[in-house]
Amino acid sequence: MKTLKICCLFFIAVLVCGAIKADDGHQLWLRNKKAQPVTVLCVKKSATLDIAKKELLLGWQGKAGTTVTLSLLKDKNISASGYRISENTVQATTDIGILYGVYELLRRQQTGEAVTNEISNPSYSERILNHWDNPDGSIERGYAGNSIFWRKDNPFTVTDADKALWQEYARANASVGINGAVLNNVNASPLILTADYLARTKAIAEVLRPYGVKVFLAVKFSSPALVGKLPTSDPLDPAVIAWWKEKVKEIYTLIPDFGGFLVKASSEGQPGPQDFGRTHADGANMLADALKPYKGIVMWRAFVYSPNDKDRAKQAYNEFVPLDGQFRDNVIIQVKNGPIDFQPREPFSPLFGAMKKTAVMPEFQITQEYLGHSIHLVFLAPMWEECLQSDTYQFGAGSTVARCTDGSARPQQYSAIAGVANIGLDTNWCGHDFAQSNWYAFGRMAWNNKIKSEQLADEWIKLTFSDDDHAAEWNSNFLSPVKTMMLNSREAAVNYMTPLGLHHIMSANGHYGPGPWWAPARMRADWTPPYYHKADSAGIGFNRSKTGSNAVEQYNAPLAAQFNDPNTCPDNLLLWFHHLPWNFKMKSGRTLWDELCYKYDSGVQQVRGFQKIWDKAGMYIDTARFKAVQRKLRLEAMNAQLWKDACLLYFQQFSKMPIPYELERPMYNLDDIIKNDMRRKDYEQSL
Ligand code: GCU
Repeated sequence: MKTLKICCLFFIAVLVCGAIKADDGHQLWLRNKKAQPVTVLCVKKSATLDIAKKELLLGWQGKAGTTVTLSLLKDKNISASGYRISENTVQATTDIGILYGVYELLRRQQTGEAVTNEISNPSYSERILNHWDNPDGSIERGYAGNSIFWRKDNPFTVTDADKALWQEYARANASVGINGAVLNNVNASPLILTADYLARTKAIAEVLRPYGVKVFLAVKFSSPALVGKLPTSDPLDPAVIAWWKEKVKEIYTLIPDFGGFLVKASSEGQPGPQDFGRTHADGANMLADALKPYKGIVMWRAFVYSPNDKDRAKQAYNEFVPLDGQFRDNVIIQVKNGPIDFQPREPFSPLFGAMKKTAVMPEFQITQEYLGHSIHLVFLAPMWEECLQSDTYQFGAGSTVARCTDGSARPQQYSAIAGVANIGLDTNWCGHDFAQSNWYAFGRMAWNNKIKSEQLADEWIKLTFSDDDHAAEWNSNFLSPVKTMMLNSREAAVNYMTPLGLHHIMSANGHYGPGPWWAPARMRADWTPPYYHKADSAGIGFNRSKTGSNAVEQYNAPLAAQFNDPNTCPDNLLLWFHHLPWNFKMKSGRTLWDELCYKYDSGVQQVRGFQKIWDKAGMYIDTARFKAVQRKLRLEAMNAQLWKDACLLYFQQFSKMPIPYELERPMYNLDDIIKNDMRRKDYEQSL
C-alpha cells in the first residue's frame, strides 16, 4: 500500500512537472514568465511605444512595484536605433530605440546580467535576414517547413493567422535587433514585382513596421523584359531605366519605408548586366538611382563564378576589385563570409580586405545547407565570430572583417550585415530546437559585432531553457555542459566533415552527406567534390599557393606569405591552400594522413560526447524538446560515423596507408555508402 502511495505521488509529481514545463519551442527565447507588477511612464504614444509598454508589463522580472520611465531625447551619442538603459529608465532618440532598450532590459533581468547606466548602439545600420522563400511557398535550402510569407493555395488572401505569425516573427526579430527582412529568394521569381505579390508584401510590411523591421525584395535583373514586356533589360537602356523608376515608385506608394533591393545577377545562371555587355557597377547603379529619392539601398551580391575559371575561390575578387569606387553610395556589395560557399570552414573572403571605396557587407548562412540541415546540432556563432574577428590587414594590423564592414575603418553611408534565414512554418520555426540559437546569435552579432559566442550561448540557453524548479543545480548541471556542447559543436562538424581545410566534398544530394567521389561525366567540374579535394596518389588539397592558382595573392601582407607556406599556414586551412603529400609532416608530428584520420575520429567522438551531455541534462528540460534533440543527436552521431568512414575509405584508395590502429575501425563499407547515398537521403527527408 505504502509503495503504491509513493508511486502515485511520484506519478502526480511527474505529471505536474511535465505540465509546467511542456514547451513546443514556438516561443523561442521569449517564453512567458510570471511578471512582477510594474508601472510604465511614457509621454508619447505610438504603435512601437505601445509594444514597448506591453512587453514591460508582460515580462518585468525586476523589483515588484518599480516605475519605469521611457523617454525620448536628443543625444548625439545615441544613434538612430541605439538606447541608454538603467534599472528603471530607457532613453533613446527614436521609438524603435526605446523598444530595443526595453528588450535589452528584460533580457538582462531574465539572464541575471547587471544593468548599469550604459549606451548601446548597433554595429551595423542594416541588420537583415535574407529569406530564400519562393512565391509558391517552398524555401530554397529551407529545412523547417514552408514559407511563413508565401503559399501556394490562396496565395493572396491574408488571414488573421498569417498576421499573427508575422507579428510573432517581427517581435522575435526586434527582440534581438534585426531591422530588415528580404522576403524572397535571391534566385528571384519575376512574379514578386507583380501587383498581387506587391499587395501581399505591403500587408507583411504593415505587420512588421511597428517592430522596426523594414521589408526588402530580391529582384530578377531581367524583370523589365519578363514583367514589363520590354525588348531588353539592358541597364543603360532608357526604357529599362524608366521601367525600374516606375516600379520603384509603385512600391514606395504601397510601402513608404520599403528598404530596397537585393540582387543576384550574372551568377549561377541568373540574368545580369553582363548579358548586355555591362558591368556589375552599371547594373547596381541603375537600380540605386531609382531607389535613391526614397532612401532605398541596393545590396548587390558578389557570389559570382564561372565554370571556366581554374579556381572558383578567386573569381569574386577578380570581378569586383577593378570596379571599386564605381558604385553609388547607396550600393553595398554583399559578400559571403568565405570565397566559396558557406562551408563548415573557409578563410574569410579576400574582398573584405580589398574594397577601399565601396561599402561591403558580410552574408552569413543561418540555415545549415552544408552543416547537416536541421538534423545536426551546430551553433554557428563561433564560425561567424571567427570571420568577423579575422584580420584583413587592409589598413594595417587590427583591420578585422568587422571593422572593414561596419564603417569604423572608413566612412560609409550605409553599413549592413545579412543572414540567410533558417525560418519556416515548423512549430519551433527552425526545425531543430538548437537552430533557434543561430537566429538569435545572428541578430545579437549584427547588433554587436564584437560580442563573444560564449556570451551568446549563455544568454540563449538561459532564455530558452531556464527552469526555476531546479534553480540551485541548473547552472552546473544544465547550463554549463550544454554551453560546452554548443561551443564545440561547430568544430566537431568541421572535424567529421571537412577537417584541415577540406571543403565542398558533400554529396550532390542537397549538400547533406559525404560525397567526395561524386563526379558524373557531364557535370561542371566546379560542382563536383574532386575539383575541391584533388586527392591523388601524390596527396590531397587544392594548391592555391604561388605554385598553384595563387589565390593567396588576394590576401594582404602578411597573410599572403603566411598562407603560401604550408609550414606557416594554419592547420585548419592547410588543404584549402595546399596540395600536400600524404606523408607531409604536420605540426603535431603525425603524417598528414594520420592527422586526417585523427581529425575525423575526433569529430565522431565529440558528437558521442554531446549525446552523453544531453542525456544527462535531460531531467532539466521538458520531455518534448528533450526527445526531439536526443533523436537528432542520434542521427548526427550516425552521420558523423558515416562521414568519417566514407571520407577515410575513399581517400585511403589514394594514400594507401592504414588508418592508425589505435583508432576505431570503420563501420560501413565504401561501396555500400555510395550505393545507399540516394536511399539514405530519402529516409532523412521523410523524418
Ligand atoms: C548556394 C546554394 C544555392 C544558392 C546560392 C546563392 O550555391 O546552394 O541554393 O542559390 O548559394 O547563394 O545564391
